[in-house]
Amino acid sequence: MYLIACLKVIYRRFGYELEVNVFFDSHSHLDASQFDDDRELMIKRTQLNQIDFILNPGADLPSSQKAVELANRYPFIYAAVGIHPHDVEMMTEEMLSEIETLAQNPKVKAIGEIGLDYYRDLSPRELQKKWFIEQLRLAKKLNLPVVIHDRDANEDVLKILKEERQFETGVLMHCYSGSKELALQYVKLGAYISIAGPLTYKNARKTVEVVEAVPVDRLMIETDAPYLTPEPYRGKRNEPMYVRHTCQRMANIKGVYLEEMAQITKENAMRFFNINE
Ligand code: NI
Repeated sequence: MYLIACLKVIYRRFGYELEVNVFFDSHSHLDASQFDDDRELMIKRTQLNQIDFILNPGADLPSSQKAVELANRYPFIYAAVGIHPHDVEMMTEEMLSEIETLAQNPKVKAIGEIGLDYYRDLSPRELQKKWFIEQLRLAKKLNLPVVIHDRDANEDVLKILKEERQFETGVLMHCYSGSKELALQYVKLGAYISIAGPLTYKNARKTVEVVEAVPVDRLMIETDAPYLTPEPYRGKRNEPMYVRHTCQRMANIKGVYLEEMAQITKENAMRFFNINE
């Protein structure tokens, strides 16, 4: 007990709390090849840093399969399955039914990440829309929420989500980078907003406004690892343990303690992904 008490004092000294920091990283690509050399160690570090829940989304069929494998292997990892807009050019009905089969696994908590990307335009827009809609319908059929990727396609994404009545089964706007106004529109429709590492960057004014405006009960935190590493590690490979820095920034903006922000975003994610523990 004495040792723990001492550790707490030391931790507090450096601005950390020992007991209640439990983070939920709502979006982390643990299956990514960037982790092939040290995945197990990285996951161990994650646990030592009190990241108690991670949602690993799929981006194509192999990564969706890997996400499910990781979720089967580690109790605190959950999966989403789906085909990212970058990869829908080669998508087929068979792939859609494989996604459906994967989604039967009880550790699969959402369909994602799916959406539209008009910034990189790696797949033709008509195909992006077609498979976005097909995967939304699959999510509805399975009664699962969706994890949305929207890059420079705000209007079409919102229009399709409304037309498909997707807000009834849950919508999470992942790595949100849009305007405050659009965020509030999503909140009104019942969606959740997940914020990634760029919140910690100097030029984050727009996203700071989003965090200021969105009620705490609709916010989540994510790393989007291995990408978008928060400060002070910007430029390095990202991993779930760095989600603390995004959470700290969010806590500062909202005027609450780090542990409160961690707790609130964790509860939001548990509610959204229907995880009862
Ligand atoms: Ni992602």
